[in-house]
Amino acid sequence: MARNATNKLLQKAKESKSDEFYTQLSDIESELQYYKDHFKGKVVFCNCDDPGTSNFFKYFASNFKELGLKKLISACYRRQERNLFNTKEYESGFFYEYSGAKVEKTKPSLNEVVHFKGDGDFRSAESIELLKRSDIVVTNPPFSLFREYVEQLIRYDKKFLVIGNINAITYKEIFKLIKGNKAWLGINLGRGISGFIVPEHYELYGTEARIDNLGNRVVSPNNCLWLTNLDTPKRHEDMTLAKSYFGNEIEYPRYDNYDGINVNKTKDIPSDYSGVMGVPITFLHKYNPEQFEIIKFRKGNDEKDLSINGKCPYFRILIKNKRIQESEKKNRRGEREIERYLKNPIEITVRGNAYDFEGPLLSL
Ligand SMILES: C[S@@+](CC[C@H](N)C(=O)[O-])C[C@H]1O[C@@H](n2cnc3c(N)ncnc32)[C@H](O)[C@@H]1O
Repeated sequence: MARNATNKLLQKAKESKSDEFYTQLSDIESELQYYKDHFKGKVVFCNCDDPGTSNFFKYFASNFKELGLKKLISACYRRQERNLFNTKEYESGFFYEYSGAKVEKTKPSLNEVVHFKGDGDFRSAESIELLKRSDIVVTNPPFSLFREYVEQLIRYDKKFLVIGNINAITYKEIFKLIKGNKAWLGINLGRGISGFIVPEHYELYGTEARIDNLGNRVVSPNNCLWLTNLDTPKRHEDMTLAKSYFGNEIEYPRYDNYDGINVNKTKDIPSDYSGVMGVPITFLHKYNPEQFEIIKFRKGNDEKDLSINGKCPYFRILIKNKRIQESEKKNRRGEREIERYLKNPIEITVRGNAYDFEGPLLSL
């Protein structure tokens, strides 16, 4: 119990530390290249972004024309460490609206920003007013408020593309959105997001911590994802399934508390198993809702963690292969048609045309 509480505190501390992870332009470009068609005529809102320093603001301002944006709004929460304007004379948040008037604008000047009455919290009425006027929200929000942040986007029915921790998949509020096809993972994940710029006081940790050629201090936690409800072609690509269950049953043990088999790696999902399979959460990176159906997360029929011989593997997502179910359905339909024909062998209708069967069936 005491250890649990300490773990929770450590986790909280970790989360609020990553509230100060600033996104690199290269990572934004690397993700945003897949969504270009979504932005034409749209108002983009970066609501956790100091327009003076945010690379999200920089990306959209520099690509304003190319994307065909209508407007870009960037709102800054007060007391930002890397805030160009925070001279300690005021602590209110502020925002900046850019309509693409000047060419290649990447930073507003001090007299162009508008001050909020309050601190610019994304939950404040002032910030929500800006949200209502926007179409798509793109940012890296504070990780410690991620649930609340995404919940607000859904409540206001906004399109979004945001960075979060991979763990966010395991939050029941976020998993529910993914299961219900209301949100999904973007293109880059884990190492696909190369690192974050951290403030001076932040300890550089890990073998991949570095100072880049602009003097930015960069850490690479390799544990982040993009969460979005903007569609991409990748989301509709079938995962190639090279393994088979039948003949390799021993590699796929059954759960004690659910009628399903355990699959340890996404790449080992068998192509011939039509029942429920428990797969690692990274499966969601390859998830095509036309190929698979998500059934449940983590728990067996008894609502305890899925277990095999009394031991619980890592968190699993229970899924079913829709393609097999569809082809089984078709086969069953075909069998029924044949049975019907056998009972009344005059003619059978295939795709709206009447055909007489030839060969052995006719001689019946
Ligand atoms: C993870 S950082 C990312 C900053 C920026 N979006 C980027 O990607 O470089 C999260 C930012 O959210 C700001 N923030 C923290 N709490 C906030 C709140 N309640 N409302 C709005 N912004 C907040 C922090 O000041 C910080 O700048």
